[in-house]
Amino acid sequence: MKKLVLVMTIISFVFIACGEKTEEVADQSKVGVALYKFDDTFISTVRAAIEKQNDDNGKMAALNFADGQGQQATQNDSIDTFIAQGYNALSVNMVDRTSAPVIIEKAKAAGIPIVFFNREPVEADMKSWDKIYYVGAKAEESGRIQGEAAAKYFKENPTADRNGDGIMQYVMLTGEPGHQDALLRTEYSTNAVIAAGIKIEELAQDTGMWQRVNGQEKMDAWLAVHGDKIEVVFANNDDMALGAIEALRAQGYFGEGGKYIPVIGVDATAPAIDSIANGLLYATVLNDSKGQGKAIYDITMALAKNEDPKTLPYTFDNGQYVWIDYVPVTAENYEDFK
Ligand code: BGC
Repeated sequence: MKKLVLVMTIISFVFIACGEKTEEVADQSKVGVALYKFDDTFISTVRAAIEKQNDDNGKMAALNFADGQGQQATQNDSIDTFIAQGYNALSVNMVDRTSAPVIIEKAKAAGIPIVFFNREPVEADMKSWDKIYYVGAKAEESGRIQGEAAAKYFKENPTADRNGDGIMQYVMLTGEPGHQDALLRTEYSTNAVIAAGIKIEELAQDTGMWQRVNGQEKMDAWLAVHGDKIEVVFANNDDMALGAIEALRAQGYFGEGGKYIPVIGVDATAPAIDSIANGLLYATVLNDSKGQGKAIYDITMALAKNEDPKTLPYTFDNGQYVWIDYVPVTAENYEDFK
């Protein structure tokens, strides 16, 4: 008898649970969101923005997030599962953006549209189907803004040129090799310094793979070799910039002695904004995760519902690309981005 009661109770719980779920999921579209890895500061903010947009829209989608764990094979498996389960649309942040053709082919065969974001498939792959879109930000622009910030600091502070040779000696912490943001931010940041009429000399460059701990380790090593010869630190993102700041603090920078060096990142993550507020990080560039998350969600949902995304209030560049602007963030305006 006891057993029967227990079984009945479990069954009714299951019914209640299902009942609630059915109510909530009525008309929901199934959307798979594949992230290159969950453990990335910036990507976590994009994920939060996608979730928020879904909440604000009465949970129109049953969102299923998949962690690629930095492995393309793992991500491919998740996408295979989404396809096999007849998902209505996918949002994909590739692990390796050159692997897009494999995913596009399978999705196309199953008729499941994709919105790629943050890691841009090459143009030929984007052109291979008209049901694929890309939401991102123009990496060139973020690099240019970084370079302009460095040039401004150099011009406004005569002591910034420590050895007085008229040349900006800098180090560069780059993101993951092959990532368009790493390549273009590296190139355009220094180009903008040159365009501002300042000569440059690179003392060191290495990848920190977007991670704070690597930024700290590389900067430690560079300080050991180049010490006070370094005049500017560029980092392709804020996490690495904040790591570099830790290394610099350990060498007496940003302390009572007034030793200072401009460190410039990209993203405007919450810790980066705090760092600017505390007089550590010199500048960053807003990589608008809210704007990107909203666009990713809106376009994916239109596709999931078989509607034309072009009716949404976004500008579609070449019919497939939606670009969200970068914004410079410094001590002058950081409060607007808190
Ligand atoms: C961000 C990085 C992030 C990377 C992930 C870039 O746009 O600036 O912080 O790690 O995307 O793909």
